[in-house]
This record gives sequence, structure tokens and C-alpha cells, in this order.
Amino acid sequence: MKGVTIATSVRDFDRLAADRVVRQIKDKPDSVIGLSTGRTTNAMHRQVAERFVREGFDVGRVTFFGLDEVTNVSPSYSGACCTMLRTEIIDALGIDDNRFLMLPTESNDWPAACRLFEQEIERRGGIDLLMLGLGENGHLGFNQPGTPFEQGTWLSRMDAELEARIRQETQTPAGVPLGGVTLGLRNIMQARRIVLVAKGERKARIVRQMLLGPVTTSVPASVLQRHPCCEFLLDTDAAKYLSGREV
Ligand code: GLP
Repeated sequence: MKGVTIATSVRDFDRLAADRVVRQIKDKPDSVIGLSTGRTTNAMHRQVAERFVREGFDVGRVTFFGLDEVTNVSPSYSGACCTMLRTEIIDALGIDDNRFLMLPTESNDWPAACRLFEQEIERRGGIDLLMLGLGENGHLGFNQPGTPFEQGTWLSRMDAELEARIRQETQTPAGVPLGGVTLGLRNIMQARRIVLVAKGERKARIVRQMLLGPVTTSVPASVLQRHPCCEFLLDTDAAKYLSGREV
């Protein structure tokens, strides 16, 4: 299937994903690269850091940014995307603060914070490579089902499972809203190159819908079918429904 790469093992998956990032840096040392947090990308971030130690390529001009951030939590909370990215990759690469862009966890003016983030990315020449995770409901970042394709950067919501976990971990009372601030689907589609990464059986059903189903806002990731330069990097478990007729 065009644009689909299937890794033969989880190890191979992490290696191939890390290689996409390393190659981008080597090919264009002033690249702007977007990263996603979560169980899918954790190991590949660490592999990029390991390769950096081994190979010592130049990261002095790269800008990294996070696709999204959880809101109304402390930025030092271990589950905040900025903390996760720092721990997994940013600190190991020694990236300066002004070359690591994140949406804030807290703000009094979300539209202004979102505009500023878009402008910062734009000022550096736009997104060269965006590594995207995939939600089990088809979300990209915090763009949940129903998000319009033309949506710019915005304050959205979490899926119920993630919200329950973060509420418990941060001991946030039920009355205090949590949320997710994220690049919108329009910003995502403007990236020059995208690598969508999905591993594990729990992603198999949505991977099939994303790739073989209709392009619909009910499955936000289906919009990637329209992107001119998107690779779908899967492991065999995530790809298991692609050949048969099962859903
Ligand atoms: C969260 C994040 C997304 C991430 C997704 C997948 O919802 N906001 O950016 O891509 O989860 O996470 P995982 O890789 O753990 O399945």
C-alpha cells in the first residue's frame, strides 16, 4: 500500500522511526521538527538521543516543538508533554530553550497563546517534519472526532480515558476543567512531511479506518489520506487489519 511501511518487530519500528528524525536533521540541519508524546514515541525518542551520543551529528540549528500539551496542570507534572519530551529527547540532545517550542500548560488568553505558537513556527520557516501519534478514536494531537479539517491551533479537550488518568495523577478535583491545547488539523496538513506512527494491536482498527475508510471528520486522522507526503509507519500488530476484510 502506497506510503505504508510495516516494521517486522517493535524494535525495528522504533529504529525506523528514530531514523526518520535523524535523517531529517542530517539532510537539513536547520529543520523544524514536531514531536508527539505517548507510549508509541517514547522509545524512538530515546533512540534518537542514543544515536546522537554515538554519531554526534549537529543539532545546533534544529528547532523542535511539541504537537500538543495538556492544560491546567503544572508544567513540571511528569505527564505534561514538555516534561516528557525534555526527559526523552530534548535534554539529551542539549537543545537550547529558544529551539524547543511548546504550547503552555496554563494561560489567561488561549487564542493569543495559540497564535503566538503558530507564528513562532511560521517565523522559522514552517514544519519540515511532523512525527504524529494516533489516538484510538482517530485523534491527532487533541483534535478529537468532529474537529473541522480547517481548524488552526486551539484549546480542545482530552479523550475521557486520558482525562481520567491525568485527573487522578494530578489530583485535580472534578470541578476543575482539564484540556488539551494542540496544533489544529490545518496546521498539521501544512507540514511539508509527516510520519504517522502507530504500534500495537489496540491501534489496528483505527489504522484501517484511517487508511481505508472515507475521509471524514469522525476519524480526524483520515485527513492524512489527502497529504502529499505522509508516511504511515506501523508495526505488524497495528497493520493487521489492512489486508483482510475485517474491521
Ligand atoms: C495523546 C496525545 C497525542 C498522542 C496520542 C497517542 O492523546 N495527545 O499527541 O499522539 O496520545 O498516544 P500513545 O502513543 O500513548 O497511544
